[in-house]
Amino acid sequence: MQEKQKLIEIVGQEHFTDQIEELVPYSYDASMNVHRPDGVVWPETTEQVVEIVRFANEYKVPIVPRGAGTSLSGGVIPIKGGIVMDLSRMNRILEISIENRYAHVQAGVVCDDLNRELAKHGFVFPPDPASSSVSTIGGNVATNAGGIKGAKYGTTRDYVLGLQVVLPTGAIMHTGSYTMKCVSGYDLAKLFIGAEGTLGVITEVTLKINPLPRHAMTAVATFAKLEDAGKAIFQTMTSGVLPSVMEILDKVTLKSVKENTDIDLPDAEAMILTETDGFTWEEVEAQMEVVLRVFKENNPITIKTAKDEKDRLNLWKARKSSYATLARASNSFVLDDVTVPISKIPNLLVGIQEIAQRHGLVVATYGHAGDGNLHPQILYDEYHPEQVEKMEKVEEDLFKLAISLNGTLTGEHGIGLSKANYMTLEHDPVEMALMKQIKRTLDPNNIMNPGKRALD
Ligand code: LAC
Ligand code: ZN
Repeated sequence: MQEKQKLIEIVGQEHFTDQIEELVPYSYDASMNVHRPDGVVWPETTEQVVEIVRFANEYKVPIVPRGAGTSLSGGVIPIKGGIVMDLSRMNRILEISIENRYAHVQAGVVCDDLNRELAKHGFVFPPDPASSSVSTIGGNVATNAGGIKGAKYGTTRDYVLGLQVVLPTGAIMHTGSYTMKCVSGYDLAKLFIGAEGTLGVITEVTLKINPLPRHAMTAVATFAKLEDAGKAIFQTMTSGVLPSVMEILDKVTLKSVKENTDIDLPDAEAMILTETDGFTWEEVEAQMEVVLRVFKENNPITIKTAKDEKDRLNLWKARKSSYATLARASNSFVLDDVTVPISKIPNLLVGIQEIAQRHGLVVATYGHAGDGNLHPQILYDEYHPEQVEKMEKVEEDLFKLAISLNGTLTGEHGIGLSKANYMTLEHDPVEMALMKQIKRTLDPNNIMNPGKRALD
C-alpha cells in the first residue's frame, strides 16, 4: 500500500505489516463477517496513535481500532479496507489507586490481567465478559462489554470514570475525572462507551473499582417448563436480594453440553445457574435462602447447592462450555444478544422457541437472564442458501420480538456489521439523524471504523 512508508516511519518496520498471511487473521473476529484490511499497525504510545490518525485523516484511509478481536457482531471487521490499529502493545497499568478507588490503564491491558493485579489489593473491576482472559479494557469500553455478573454489577459503562481518546482529527481529548462523582460539562465519555470505535481511538481508561466479595455460593435448579424458569428468574430479581449470577441454559444448550463434555446434566427444558456473593457467609447464605424459596414456588424438578469449591466450579463448567459446544454442533451459527425488561424474560424465552419452530431451524438459548439478556444461538449451514435465508428470517423475527417487548437489539455484543440493517427497528428517524450528525461532526472524513451501524 502507498501509505506504507509513512506508517513504518511512525511505528518502525516491525510494527507494521501488509503481508497477506499476517492480514488474514485481522480479516476476522468472532462473528461470521470477513474482510481483509490493507495493513495492520501496532502503536505503542498515544503519540504514535495521534500521528497515525492524523495521517489517515489527511489521506482518508479507514482506521479500525482493535483490542483482542473478540467482537461477535463484526465490530472490528475492516469492511472498507484500510488500516487495522491493534492496541495490544499499549498494555501498561498506569496507576492503581486503592485509596481513591480507581485504576488508570492503557487501552490494551487485558481484563483478567487487571483483575489479577487488583485482587492483590482485595479489589476488582466487576464486568466479566466471557472473553475476559484475552479481551482488552479498550475493547471492553468500546463495546460496553457486559458479562455473567451483570445482574448485580452492571456493565463496563457503570465503571468508567474517565477516558483519553484520540479524535478522528488527531486531537487528544481527556474527558471525565478521577472522582466518584462528576457533573461537569456534558458526559462525553458516555458517547465513546459502546461506540465501537466509530468516533475515535480510546487510548487510556480510568475505571472505578470495587472491593472483592469474599464469599460466593452457587446453586442450580432445573425446570420442566421454560415459562416457569423465566418466572423464577424475574421473581428472584424483585425479591429484595440481588444474586450476582442468574444464568439460564435451555434444553438444546444442555443437550449440546452433555453430548460434547463429560459433564453430567439432567434432562430438563431449562436449567438456572445462580450465585450469591458477599463479605460474610451469613450474608451469602441468607440471600441464597431467598433465591431458593422463589425457585421452589415455580415448580422446579431439582435444586442443588454446591457443596464445596470443586463442586461449584463443576456447576460453572456447563455454562462456560455452552458457546464452544454449540459452535461445534453445526457448520455455522449466529449468536445474538437480544435484551428485554426483566419481567419479559418468560415471553422472550417462549417466543424464541416459537420463532425457531416456525422457520424450522434449531436455536439454542442461554445467557444472562437476570439482567434480561439472552443469547439465542441460531444453528445453520452457510453453504445451503435455503438455510441462510431461514437464518435471516429467524434473526429478523428475533429482533422484532425483542423490540415488541420494549427490549433492544443488543445488550452487550454491539451493532457492528451484523445488526446494522436493523438499527431503524429500534431508533426513530430523529435519533438516527442525530447519531449521523454526531458521527459527521466528529469524523468529517468518515475514517473511523466506517461502514458500521448504518451511520455512513
Ligand atoms: C457469553 C457471551 C457469548 O455470555 O456473551 O458467553
Ligand atoms: Zn454474554
